Amino acid sequence: MTQFTSDRLLLFGATGDLSRRMLLPSLCALDAEGLLGPDIEIIGTARSDMDDQGFRNFARESLEQFLPAGRRGSLAQFLNRLSYQPLDANDIDSFHALAEKVGTPKQGLSIFLSTAPSLFEPTIHGLEKSGLASGNVRIGLEKPLGVDLASSKVINDAVASAFPEDRIFRIDHYLGKETVQNILALRFANLMFEPLWNAAHIDHVQITVAETVGLESRVAYYDDSGALRDMVQNHMLQLLALVAMEPPVSYNATSIRNEKVKVLHSLRKVKPEETVTGQYRAGAITGKAVPGYDEELGKDSNTETFVAIKGFIDNWRWQGVPFYMRTGKRLPKRTTEIVVQFRDVPHSIFHGRGAKTVPNRLVIGIQPEENITLSLMAKVPGLDRDGYGLRSVPLAITRPDAFADHQRRIAYERLLLDLIEGDQTLFVRRDEVEAQWEWIDAIRSGWEEQAQEPKTYTAGSWGPSAAIALAERDGVTWHE
Ligand code: BG6
Repeated sequence: MTQFTSDRLLLFGATGDLSRRMLLPSLCALDAEGLLGPDIEIIGTARSDMDDQGFRNFARESLEQFLPAGRRGSLAQFLNRLSYQPLDANDIDSFHALAEKVGTPKQGLSIFLSTAPSLFEPTIHGLEKSGLASGNVRIGLEKPLGVDLASSKVINDAVASAFPEDRIFRIDHYLGKETVQNILALRFANLMFEPLWNAAHIDHVQITVAETVGLESRVAYYDDSGALRDMVQNHMLQLLALVAMEPPVSYNATSIRNEKVKVLHSLRKVKPEETVTGQYRAGAITGKAVPGYDEELGKDSNTETFVAIKGFIDNWRWQGVPFYMRTGKRLPKRTTEIVVQFRDVPHSIFHGRGAKTVPNRLVIGIQPEENITLSLMAKVPGLDRDGYGLRSVPLAITRPDAFADHQRRIAYERLLLDLIEGDQTLFVRRDEVEAQWEWIDAIRSGWEEQAQEPKTYTAGSWGPSAAIALAERDGVTWHE
């Protein structure tokens, strides 16, 4: 793999929501810290007809809204790096104009493509025809990469016709989150977890990604997608793969992705009765009334805004250990967390003293707070005249306490910098994406065969009661 640090960055979808909220703020924050290189030029492109100044004004407004003042550095310096070229992805002349605007990078070009799936192919074609795909060029691809395995293969084939795999950076922004990366440190930089990290000692794992938001402004996209494709296919399966994978040989893109893909290939086909889907109805989130999904959408729909799945990994390490996953919109609070529930001690010496042990539990909080909590049994202080006292107490590492001197960053800061510098470790390889789709497609066809429709749930609740029953049937309670 040729290493180069790009001195030009070409942003497709530059006037979109992702750009406004995440990409421009991330780039500005990196620039303020001198991490982008002194000569970096950022060229934005999208359909909107705008000139350089128009784009700079757009960027300024976005930064003022989405990046804290203390992280902006010299705004003028960053804005000066920006330029803009309008583009019609179906018009080849438009790509020639774009190539002219990009000019000849001194070292290399990184392209960030966040575009509707229907525009992927024409865009790749345009890049190729205009010479923007040759030389030192790498490309970052934002989701959605298709809607199923077949369509994702079409996109992957189109990209592969213009770029080798080691120049393709498929983005899953969850991999840019600090606590997600910390799963690797926790598992493989400590001795104490790995010997216990298997079916003999772990009872089950829970992965929850709960959101309070509803449809936001993404009506068309979301209704065609639904929670399974929007959140499980990518983010949740990546979290699962990091939790479940075997120890990689070393911290590099090939080793880590080799191990993740093995997990994804070991996922057992899910039966429809091991899934629950839901769609929210009007309710309240933190005391504020919110409309139902069908009202927000303005029509009836069968799209699921909630999904819970009981999954299994068919390999030696995880035989018989359920991985409960759930995600949904309009749930009571925003939280992403992984719970690793250990088994109870094989024999309790305290039984005769009337004390009960509670199995250890590791909770990895990804957001809104970043923390790791291990519950341990401890003796309640006292003379124990009324029986021996045991209590489960938390051993907690919270990010603000442990790393007070470190900046909390936007996930895209890490990913954009890795794209510019060419480190693929936190990007998803083609075989991973395809394994993810294969598993998801089988779930969807199970739903279709059984004509499964989402159950309703009230906004502000934890989804349909069937989701609670899915875990409780096994004596498991969702962690809240
Ligand atoms: C995106 C989904 O990939 O992730 C959105 O398309 C979702 O529907 C978002 O809201 C959640 O990301 P985060 O970082 O806020 O958890």
